[in-house]
Amino acid sequence: MRTVLVINSKGGCGKTTVTTNLASYYAAAGTRVAIKDYDPQGSSLQWLKSRPAHLPRIHGANAAPQKGFLLKSLQTWLPTDTQLQLIDAPGGAKGLLLQELMGKAEFVVIPVGPSSIDVHATADFVKDLFLLGRVRSRNTQVVVVANRVRSSMPVYEPLERFLRSLSLPFLTRIRDSDAYIRAAEQGLGVFEMDPAESTAERQEFQPIVRWLDGHLAVGPATAHPNVVNLAARRQVAV
Ligand SMILES: Nc1ncnc2c1ncn2[C@@H]1O[C@H](COP(=O)(O)OP(=O)(O)O)[C@@H](O)[C@H]1O
Ligand SMILES: [Mg+2]
Repeated sequence: MRTVLVINSKGGCGKTTVTTNLASYYAAAGTRVAIKDYDPQGSSLQWLKSRPAHLPRIHGANAAPQKGFLLKSLQTWLPTDTQLQLIDAPGGAKGLLLQELMGKAEFVVIPVGPSSIDVHATADFVKDLFLLGRVRSRNTQVVVVANRVRSSMPVYEPLERFLRSLSLPFLTRIRDSDAYIRAAEQGLGVFEMDPAESTAERQEFQPIVRWLDGHLAVGPATAHPNVVNLAARRQVAV
């Protein structure tokens, strides 16, 4: 099982949006996907509840700390055949929780919203991650994606400079679009919407998918062209 952690200390930056869209993309590609929702608000689990029954199934696990306890819920069980686990982190994760989450992750996606508050919080969060040491010592791969981008956003420039200094440029820019909101309401990802309504949104998710497909050997060999290519490449490499 491969693990992708979607995290930022800032709430509302798009963690659940990125998690649910990646989950639906990989489920549609034939991969057995589970979402582990660490956020007590349970937005990813809500999204799963509204997901139409005829669509590829995504397992949901509630990993939010239970009221009054630091112990995790017993509902964190995942089916044994899960191939891809997506962790939807809560806002404000730090200390032991951040260590626990980073300890599980091979791939980390950090969405960042457009306000200067988001940008500053993200720079601090990225510093925390690197200080934690896990990113370097375990060779965890980290990407940052700009979210809710509207026209030109000079506000990102200082963050981009900081990220470049860490060799961590934005992987993609996800626009501020009603398609993400409509998809979320229906339990879908943009890849499962009418293509005419979601062409640009599908394209802006492609860099994340290509990056992950470059590393994830999940899903049946015939499920998705990118996965087939990867499996083929891996076999040749071995
Ligand atoms: N790119 C986007 N375009 C439009 N709305 C978005 C976009 N990303 C997130 N949203 C909306 O912003 C709100 C917060 O996003 P969410 O993914 O729940 O953030 P988080 O999980 O980090 O708190 C949600 O209502 C979501 O539908
Ligand atoms: Mg959320």
